[in-house]
Amino acid sequence: MSYDINDRNLITFDQAEDIALYTEDLKVWYGQNEAIHGVDLQFEKNCITALIGPSGSGKSTYLRSLNRMNDGISGTKVTGSIMYKEVDVNRPEIDVYEMRKRIGMVFQRPNPFSKSIYENITFALKRHGEKDKHKLDEIVETSLKQAALWEQVKDNLHKSALALSGGQQQRLCIARAIAMKPDILLLDEPASALDPISTGTVEETLVNLKENYTIIIVTHNMQQAARISDYTAFFYMGHCLEYDLTRKIFTRPKIKATEDYVSGHFG
Ligand SMILES: Nc1ncnc2c1ncn2[C@@H]1O[C@H](COP(=O)(O)OP(=O)(O)OP(=O)(O)O)[C@@H](O)[C@H]1O
Ligand SMILES: [Mg+2]
Repeated sequence: MSYDINDRNLITFDQAEDIALYTEDLKVWYGQNEAIHGVDLQFEKNCITALIGPSGSGKSTYLRSLNRMNDGISGTKVTGSIMYKEVDVNRPEIDVYEMRKRIGMVFQRPNPFSKSIYENITFALKRHGEKDKHKLDEIVETSLKQAALWEQVKDNLHKSALALSGGQQQRLCIARAIAMKPDILLLDEPASALDPISTGTVEETLVNLKENYTIIIVTHNMQQAARISDYTAFFYMGHCLEYDLTRKIFTRPKIKATEDYVSGHFG
């Protein structure tokens, strides 16, 4: 079955102040291969938006572009705009290091530094010049609380992060990201390497975090998207074909490809 990629249903928001980030005509090339073909999406503040779609459809490529993580890959080119607070963060003169304090990322595999729990959270803060011990202690506590890990680690803050379970390590990585007080948190399949119980705790953490952050998450797990997200974007062959409220995507999508994908009849 092939689908008409010109058939689209993409919602937009009326109020500019409700939008945390949006892309316009975003295209990504790996060498000669155009992997993302001009995606326009708006992300609502304090909501969770899930990016779903088949393997190779461009979800990770698109997500990574949002905080310029594709910059380091040689031969990669990203055109179009990524608008954050009226600034196009895709422009060459942007200080990527500073921008990533506002737009943070958590990866698929938990990747804590081989340091203590405490140092994992304070490392970047110290590099940014924060020296006040009381302030650092306070940020460690609030970040771990927000990531729902504090109660489990508060007596072991100086033990190695590598001794934590996979789910705990991933929540530590979330705590590490939010310690920088970003506005936007990007997550690429953050629970795919975790068991169901750890996945549940990470999901619960994300739902609690949306009060303070705008969250964009790539997931292969349909139930996860349905459980935690407010909006869902369906990617197919480097295009976003459908973007709507999650409950509409999962109950009455307007696009055939989306319907087949969410009902498991894809391809
Ligand atoms: N580093 C890279 N170099 C070259 N091509 C790449 C690279 N990363 C991704 N691609 C290509 O870009 C396209 C989109 O890949 P991407 O990883 O974004 O898809 P995805 O939707 O995240 O897939 P999955 O669900 O398997 O993670 C694919 O054709 C892929 O082969
Ligand atoms: Mg991916």
